[in-house]
Amino acid sequence: MRMERPFPLRTNRIRSSWPYCIVLLVISGAAFAEAPFRTPISYEDADKRAGVLLAQMSTEEKLQLVSGYNSFFIHGFPRLGIPALRMSDATQGLRLKADIGQTIEKSTAFPAPIGLAATWNPELAYRYARSIGEECRAGDVAILLGPGMDNYRVSQCGRNFEYFGEDPLLAARMIERYVRGILDTGTIPTLKHFVANDTDFYRRTSNSVVDERTLHEINLPAFKAGIDAGAMAVMTSYNQLDGEWCGQSHYVITDLLRGSLGFRWLVMTDWHSVWDAQKIIQSGQDLEMPGNTNITNDAARLLGEGKVGIADIDRMARAIMCTCIAMGLYDRSVRDDAFRERFPAHVECALETARQGIVLLKNDGVLPLEKSDERTILVTGLFVDELASGGGSARVEGYDVTTMRQALSETYGERVSFVAEPTDDQLRSAGTVLVSTGTFDSEGSDRPFALPDLEERRVERAVGLNTRTVVIINSGGGIQMTGWNDRAAAVICAWYPGQAGNRALAEVLCGDTNPSGRLPISIERKFEDSPGYGYIPEGEALYKGKPPIEEMKHPVYAIKYSEGVFVGYRWYESRKIAPLYAFGSGLSYTSYAFASPRVSAATVLRTEDVSATCRVTNTGTRSGAEIVQLYVHPVDPPVPRPEKELKGFARVELAPGESREVTITLTPRDFAFWDVARHDWTVAPGDYELLIGGASDQIALRKKVTLR
Ligand code: BGC
Repeated sequence: MRMERPFPLRTNRIRSSWPYCIVLLVISGAAFAEAPFRTPISYEDADKRAGVLLAQMSTEEKLQLVSGYNSFFIHGFPRLGIPALRMSDATQGLRLKADIGQTIEKSTAFPAPIGLAATWNPELAYRYARSIGEECRAGDVAILLGPGMDNYRVSQCGRNFEYFGEDPLLAARMIERYVRGILDTGTIPTLKHFVANDTDFYRRTSNSVVDERTLHEINLPAFKAGIDAGAMAVMTSYNQLDGEWCGQSHYVITDLLRGSLGFRWLVMTDWHSVWDAQKIIQSGQDLEMPGNTNITNDAARLLGEGKVGIADIDRMARAIMCTCIAMGLYDRSVRDDAFRERFPAHVECALETARQGIVLLKNDGVLPLEKSDERTILVTGLFVDELASGGGSARVEGYDVTTMRQALSETYGERVSFVAEPTDDQLRSAGTVLVSTGTFDSEGSDRPFALPDLEERRVERAVGLNTRTVVIINSGGGIQMTGWNDRAAAVICAWYPGQAGNRALAEVLCGDTNPSGRLPISIERKFEDSPGYGYIPEGEALYKGKPPIEEMKHPVYAIKYSEGVFVGYRWYESRKIAPLYAFGSGLSYTSYAFASPRVSAATVLRTEDVSATCRVTNTGTRSGAEIVQLYVHPVDPPVPRPEKELKGFARVELAPGESREVTITLTPRDFAFWDVARHDWTVAPGDYELLIGGASDQIALRKKVTLR
């Protein structure tokens, strides 16, 4: 059986029974009844026009085109009416770089993508991305170098904040809407980094060894979803896959990306990530970035020696032009100042993302800290005056940044005091202590799972001295919490919040916003528990990133994905290791109950869809949003499979006492595994349990379905 899409369009139906009695259509992922994205000029017409331009170009011009210039540009050729096109990073907002002549002086800092993933709200991903696309247009940026979507395999990875967590379906659902949001502004999104670039420890010399099934079930689905949503560029990664650098690997680019995934637009390298001009040219790669390196230095010689043909260069140049023509970039100006008017809406979207993405991990009743409460609040810690943010190419400064100090002062007025180094007495006597901690994550290196000693001691001291201590974590992924988690009265995971995110934090603390974020990752008790443990070569330690030439002196080392498809919660469940916080978990100030499960049919053919329906009720006294999560458990699979896998979800807003029916439709692909004998997806006949609940470790309902 062949199925074209890994996650076909589907609709989740949510029906409210009381008090509103309305029928709603809610979309999970690509579930919009929306036409697929169409480029302004079709691929075929654009390709034809690219061919005409190509015929007028000299070899020298072609070689200039297939190699970037001025770090962030695709070459232009005014004599042929081909404009130079600007690219810019990336995933948590538009990165401003004064030296590449962007035409705006500010850009909105959004919460990091991992925080966006924590909203489990694909429509918010669309708005978020559309806002960034609009800022691209205002800034004269034709190609956005994002979204990033490598997998959360190693909690220490310095770039986890740029990605969408550990689950391929959640990532795919968010990515497809993200991609569409960028495309709808006339900007080209770039899916990166292809592929299996799941650590930044000596990223240029790591060799990811991933079996075929794991690639297809875990690493490729988010890319496939982005491609199917219309993404027009892909950036290859720094690492090797099975012994070859991805940016110069025929297997990675021609076989996997263009072959298996059906991608036909522009492929570019990551910056300084490829080393052999002949391989680059013959791999299926189109554009070497940032340019002035291998192709510039060696291509003319290789052509002269007959080691590469002009047809190879033509293919590359034509793909670049075809992509840009199809998006209309040779026919209109990229810059559109009208989008400058949209900044206030973008800040509103950044704020809403932070509101929905903050995850309340623990609460013994100390939260919410009502504004009317008269007890004092002492605030101390790492990110009180400095906005926590991920670094590297994804860093976005933002503007009119609200610090934690500002947000909490505005919310609590005189009650709150800020003390950098509180005494024991101050900590003991405070009505409540808020302690801010976290990590500075950035590309180019990984960071330890455990906090630095000083930070760890700061948090331990606070929870030891005051039983009403709330720990606020800003980081790009999980951190070790076992030293203080049990004694903390509450723990909040606020990711990298973006310029408006501390306002959302204050709203959550005081109860104006009811937290609804859910973890897109599992947080292990100790790093040794995790599937990624052991990835660093014996005897070596984490390091701070080095320049490319230095980094290349490190020997290539293999990272064996020996856990196979058992990554994230799939790992912890198969190993029976309880993480500290499970995938999909997160608390609310209200409570929800699940009831009345049913399936559309108890037995279906392996080619048919099947729907699961349940009723979810807000049983508490505050409005809130529950994330209904549907997992599939194969009862007796013919190959080893995870205990359960997420296959659908819906974010449901509920007033106190309100109850809604939620229907999630599954397609045959949702039951399939990648069959290495057939090199394709297979749906095995047999029994499957559909598990529904509010987190991977909070399954409330089960329904059996038999596939024939
Ligand atoms: C990063 C890419 C980024 C590029 C350009 C590289 O170091 O890995 O994600 O797009 O720089 O800034």
